Amino acid sequence: MSQNSQSVIEVIDFHKSFGEKKVHQGVSFYVKKGECLALIGGSGTGKSVLLRSLVGLEKPDKGQVLINGQDVTPMNETELIEVRKKVAYAFQGGALFDSMTVYENLAYPLREHFHLSESEVAKQIKDQLEEFGLPNSEKLYPGNLSGGMQKRVGLARAMMMHPEVVLYDEPTAGLDPYNTKRIQESILKLKAKGVTSILVTHDMPTVYAVCDKVALLAQGRISEQYTIEKLKTEPTGPMSDFINGETA
Ligand SMILES: Nc1ncnc2c1ncn2[C@@H]1O[C@H](COP(=O)(O)OP(=O)(O)OP(=O)(O)O)[C@@H](O)[C@H]1O
Ligand SMILES: [Mg+2]
Repeated sequence: MSQNSQSVIEVIDFHKSFGEKKVHQGVSFYVKKGECLALIGGSGTGKSVLLRSLVGLEKPDKGQVLINGQDVTPMNETELIEVRKKVAYAFQGGALFDSMTVYENLAYPLREHFHLSESEVAKQIKDQLEEFGLPNSEKLYPGNLSGGMQKRVGLARAMMMHPEVVLYDEPTAGLDPYNTKRIQESILKLKAKGVTSILVTHDMPTVYAVCDKVALLAQGRISEQYTIEKLKTEPTGPMSDFINGETA
């Protein structure tokens, strides 16, 4: 049962092990409509697995994952396709198809889910690339793009479905300040349109720039949660230790 009727995303008592390794041992949190939650935590604490579970790419051993109040954990692939129209997952690393042009990469989700004329597909791709600061890059291949541009194309592709929820997995990792700022602007633009999001990152300036609250994943649970306002003024304890590099 949902604890919070305003939540777009709610994770309740999430448990997941891989073999002997207990990764999640009762993770619970929620994100309300239009909010951005930063999910931080050491490498291997299970941030990416949690994001993947929100779109049914992983199943918890125990617990619930509610999107708009609906538990996605028992859903079959057909039901999950409907969820993935609403919930976009911007993969760690971009995950573009290397053998396809930028145009083909962006056309792919559109053709999968909508019946559009090719001229309509082309127009939507042109608009989206301009929105992400990548005009006239349709004919390029991922291998011809810088890391920053690849990440922006990955985000542009995730946005082609006009999702209600976007899950960002380290969208600024390895980017220079210019590209980091462009990504922050894209996230803020989507937020202004009411998109609800979770941002997994180690990039604290981006957390401060775009998020409303921040949760620390440690020892299999959300060990602390702060609003960004509070984080700026009075972080103490595990969150402060993590941010300041005192703990892994
Ligand atoms: N399919 C899998 N099979 C076995 N172990 C897995 C699998 N997927 C994830 N794990 C393990 O689960 C743990 C959490 O992985 P996850 O990728 O979610 O970490 P993360 O918090 O995203 O780390 P990073 O910050 O390095 O990206 C890791 O120990 C990982 O090795
Ligand atoms: Mg990860």
